[in-house]
Amino acid sequence: MTIIQWYPGHMNKAKNQIQDRLKLVDVVLEIRDARLPLSSANPVLDQLIQNKKRLIILNKKDLADASQTKKWQQYFQNPQVASVAIDAQHTQHLQIIIQKINQLMAAKLKKFQQSGVQNYTIRAMCIGIPNVGKSTVLNKLAGKNIAVTGNRPGVTKNQNWIKTKSHIELLDTPGVLWPKIDDETVGIKLALSGAIKDSLVPQTDIALFALDFFQKHYPQLLQAAYHLTTTDLQENNKELFLHLCQQFNMADDYERSANKLIQDLRKGIWGQYTLDWVQEIDS
Ligand code: G4P
Repeated sequence: MTIIQWYPGHMNKAKNQIQDRLKLVDVVLEIRDARLPLSSANPVLDQLIQNKKRLIILNKKDLADASQTKKWQQYFQNPQVASVAIDAQHTQHLQIIIQKINQLMAAKLKKFQQSGVQNYTIRAMCIGIPNVGKSTVLNKLAGKNIAVTGNRPGVTKNQNWIKTKSHIELLDTPGVLWPKIDDETVGIKLALSGAIKDSLVPQTDIALFALDFFQKHYPQLLQAAYHLTTTDLQENNKELFLHLCQQFNMADDYERSANKLIQDLRKGIWGQYTLDWVQEIDS
């Protein structure tokens, strides 16, 4: 299997830029993919954020397994950290973010009110690895299309405060926050979700991983997606893959079959799923 390289140089640059700007904000909005609550996080943030209030936004909840999303929200909860699950495609879901920020900041806002400051503007920094939906969230919170920094080369990297319709101003993350891919499974999960380029991992590796994962965790979804029998499901993932290649009339073209499986999964044909399971942490 291919080893995916993670570049410490990129990470250090992002780390320094984030560190500088953290001093300017009250709260960090960390956007993750609800299908990958751990793998779409960046551990560098834990070192940097420390005691700053943090809201973990599990975005794309429409694609994730709702029971896992609930478990993850309970897992993340602590006095400094709140979490919320949203589908950023729907503007009304963004209201929940505003409510959660207000809750996290309640004590500070009260203090300001008591000292006579009535309209304190909360400053928040938005952070997320590519493809988790950061631009969508920022645009919806701002109520218009804004030039989001990072993620794409050539987009402005100036430090601009983004005004929202409420008493919150947002700061986009400077540069690109790369995911930390320190094991192959994380790399494959990120590739499966579309967070890293398909070309970095062979399509057949991704498809075999997906089949194995669904055989173990979501056999009924897999069965329904491809009209499989219970006996088909008991084949190992390689046998099942060959079976599906035949079923697709692509018996000699493993890359094309793998690509079809991956595209089907991304389009939601396999159903709602979560690739990181709370129960499997440290197992
Ligand atoms: P980024 O800035 O973090 O890189 O992510 P971005 O907002 O560009 O979103 C990446 C893709 O994810 C986009 O789709 C976007 O529409 C989609 N997306 C964002 N939030 C959600 C969500 O809550 N649910 C679902 N299902 N999708 C979401 P795309 O196909 O890359 O682009 P486009 O077709 O929207 O132009």
